[in-house]
Amino acid sequence: MLRAFERADTIAPSESAVLLVGETGVGKEVMAEYIHRHSGRSQRPFVKVGLATLPPELLESEIFGHERGAYTSAVADKKGLFELAHKGTIFLDDIDDFPLNLQPKLLRVLEAGEVQRVGSTTPIAIDIRVICATKVDLKDMVERGAFRSDLYYRINVVPIRIPPLRERREDIPLLLRSFLDRYAPDRPLPLTEEAMRVLRGYSWPGNVRELRNTSQRIALFARDRIDVSDLPEEIREENPATIAFKSCLHCFSEHGTSLEHMVNCLEYNMLKQALAHAHGNRTKAAKYLKTSLSTFRDKLKKYNLESESPAD
Ligand SMILES: Nc1ncnc2c1ncn2[C@@H]1O[C@H](COP(=O)(O)OP(=O)(O)O)[C@@H](O)[C@H]1O
Ligand SMILES: [Mg+2]
Repeated sequence: MLRAFERADTIAPSESAVLLVGETGVGKEVMAEYIHRHSGRSQRPFVKVGLATLPPELLESEIFGHERGAYTSAVADKKGLFELAHKGTIFLDDIDDFPLNLQPKLLRVLEAGEVQRVGSTTPIAIDIRVICATKVDLKDMVERGAFRSDLYYRINVVPIRIPPLRERREDIPLLLRSFLDRYAPDRPLPLTEEAMRVLRGYSWPGNVRELRNTSQRIALFARDRIDVSDLPEEIREENPATIAFKSCLHCFSEHGTSLEHMVNCLEYNMLKQALAHAHGNRTKAAKYLKTSLSTFRDKLKKYNLESESPAD
């Protein structure tokens, strides 16, 4: 995360296109706004285009605008979002949902710095910086023919990957505390050690967004000290194997289907989760996985996991 922010600090003042890559809820929009605020365009508009939520039939006229009479419903001229972002930053969220048939038009806007409203032949010059976000690997889509490679290269000048929450568990207590302070400003709400351990061990498939919603729920119901029983059921009852499988799913989708990679990934995650489940106690963790302690030790060594538990 620090590396991601360092990168953002470095490129914010430049004019270069940025591609934010990360699962849903990791903070891509937060990062896009951060870059805008730290750029020379900070006093100008920041315009977000939610491509996953915009109906495809409205998309073209929403982003490029239209002339009066371009459609039967077009009773007046309409500025598109690109025009509204003039001199500022446009944030194309979920660019992976951008329809293939409109991609050449988007590329032309970015290359030429001008838009044409639907139904018009007059180009309008625009000065924008573009930041895109994607939840899937665009390179993969390019290979499958689902995304144009020329557009991909145009928007992928500076890629910044934002890691999922389960890959930066040390952020969980910090984020949780800040959300609890936000949702229960008048109560200190300390957590028991066990509650914090469960929260840190959870897989957080919805990432920071899920943590924020969970914090809000906890703040609503907790009276003083937050214990495991105050946590939502799906968090309390997630078992080590489920967590391991969920971590693997993401890894598999990123690295394809190499048998060796899949087996290693699963083994690695099972070891990690067994250790977390056993509070770092190797004997208990080995028992949980039904292996001998010596096999378990060898495997910890193989995956460089020895620091995750004190030697016993
Ligand atoms: N570093 C962070 N600090 C505080 N809140 C965050 C942080 N990252 C994400 N959030 C919060 O989590 C939620 C999801 O973030 P968002 O940027 O919309 O994610 P994404 O665009 O990747 O889906 C938002 O409510 C946002 O305010
Ligand atoms: Mg988002």
